[in-house]
Amino acid sequence: MEFLGETVPMAVILSLLLSSFLCQNLISAATPGSELESLSQELLECARKPEFFEWMRGLRRRIHEYPELGFQEHRTSQLVRSELDSLGISYKWPVAKTGVVASIGNGAKPVFSLRADMDALPLQELVDWEHKSKVDGKMHACGHDTHVAMLLGAARLLQDRRERLKGMVKLVFQPGEEGYAGAYHMLKDGILDDIDAILSIHVYPSVPTGAIASRPGPLLAGVGLFSATVQGKGGHAAAPHETRDPILAAAFAITALQQIVSRETDPHESRVVTVGFIEGGQATNVIPDSVKFGGTFRSLTNEGLSYLKERIKEVIEMQAAVHQCSAVLDFMEEMPMPHPAMKNDEALYEHIKKVGEILVGEHNVQLLPITMGGEDFSYFAQRTAAAIYVVGIKNESLKSDEALHSPYFFVDEEALPIGAALNAAAAISYLDSHAPATR
Ligand SMILES: *[C@@H]1O[C@H](CO)[C@@H](O)[C@H](O)[C@H]1NC(C)=O
Repeated sequence: MEFLGETVPMAVILSLLLSSFLCQNLISAATPGSELESLSQELLECARKPEFFEWMRGLRRRIHEYPELGFQEHRTSQLVRSELDSLGISYKWPVAKTGVVASIGNGAKPVFSLRADMDALPLQELVDWEHKSKVDGKMHACGHDTHVAMLLGAARLLQDRRERLKGMVKLVFQPGEEGYAGAYHMLKDGILDDIDAILSIHVYPSVPTGAIASRPGPLLAGVGLFSATVQGKGGHAAAPHETRDPILAAAFAITALQQIVSRETDPHESRVVTVGFIEGGQATNVIPDSVKFGGTFRSLTNEGLSYLKERIKEVIEMQAAVHQCSAVLDFMEEMPMPHPAMKNDEALYEHIKKVGEILVGEHNVQLLPITMGGEDFSYFAQRTAAAIYVVGIKNESLKSDEALHSPYFFVDEEALPIGAALNAAAAISYLDSHAPATR
C-alpha cells in the first residue's frame, strides 16, 4: 500500500486499515446514482484485492481438482458450507441432495437470489496445468467451479455489508445442472418460494475477459430428448421379402424428421431436431430385428417444444408403419428431464445492465447472441423474474477461448472478481430500488 506514507495521520491509517480489513467503504454516498457508482467500484476493488482474489481463486482451484457429477457434489457442497460457516452466514442444507441455500439480510421482502451450479461433466481434462482435475473422466468443463467461487465471493462481499441490505439475498448453490434438472428439484423444496428475482452468472469463452454479456427476452432454447425403437422382423439379408426391415424404416423416419423444421416451422422461428445416435444390426448379411436411434429437439418457446415432441412421435410411428414395422418412443421425461425455454426478464436484464455498465464500463457490456443450448435455470425463469449474464473469460494468450464442454476448456481467473462483484452489486442495488419506501 504505497499511499501509507509517513505524512499520513494515524487516524487515517486506522480508518484505512479498518476499511480494508472489513473490505468496506465507511463513507456513505449521497444520491442513488452516485451511490450505485461508488458501491459497484468499491465491490470490484475489494474483490480484486490480492488476499480476496487469492482466496476465491484457491476455492475455484480446489473445486476444479475434484470435479463431481450431478447430485454427487458432496465435497463441493461441504466446501461451500464450511466457507459459509467461516463467514458466519446461515444456510439450509440439504436442498435437493447436495444443494445449499444461504441467506443474508434483514429477513424482509424483497428477496433477491443469486445462483451458482456446482456439478462437473463426465469428460477427461486434456489441459496440462497445476490444478488439473485429479479425477479421471471428470472435469469442470463448463465453469461451474468458477460460478461457485464467484458466489462465495459475493457471499463475503454481501456479508460485510449485511447492515445496509434492504431485504434479503438468498444464495443458491445448485446441484445437477448438466441434464439432471437440479433447478427443478431445488424449487420443489419450497425454500425459494419467496424470491422476487434471480440472477445466474455463467463464464463464457467467446466474450473477452473484462466484458460481460446478455440480452433481453429469449436467450436459450427449451430442450427435449427422445429415443425411438423401431421394431421389425429380422432375417437373412438375401431374403428381404421374408423380413420387415427396421433399418430401412429408421432411415426413412430419420429423413422425414428433417422436414419438421424445414417445412413446418415458420422460418422466423428457431427450432432444431437432431438425431445424435443410431444403433442397429451387427452383420453385413443379416437384417436385424430392431433399430434404436435418438436425439434432441429444441425451440425458443415452450409451445414450439410441445409441437416438436408431438410431431416427432407421429413422424417416427407413421414412417415405421409405412414399412410394416412399429415404433416405441421414449421422451426421457424422468431423468434427465427436458428444460423449458430460457427467457430473460426484460426489467431485470435492464437493471443488471445498468450495474454492469458501471462495473466494467459501457463498452464492455455486450449483446449476447441467442443460442440453442439449454439451461435448467429456465425452471427459475418460469417461477420468477430471472436473468442470465455471462462473464467473459477469453484471453488468447491463456488459450481460454476453448468452447464450453471441451476437454481443453480453460478459464482466465481474472474474471472471478468481476463475477463476484456483479453478483453482489446486482443484489444490493436490486434491494435498494425494490424495497418498500420508509418514511
Ligand atoms: C491475458 O493474460 C495474460 C497473462 O495472465 C495477461 O498478462 C494479459 O494482460 C491478459 N490479457 C488481457 C487482454 O486481459
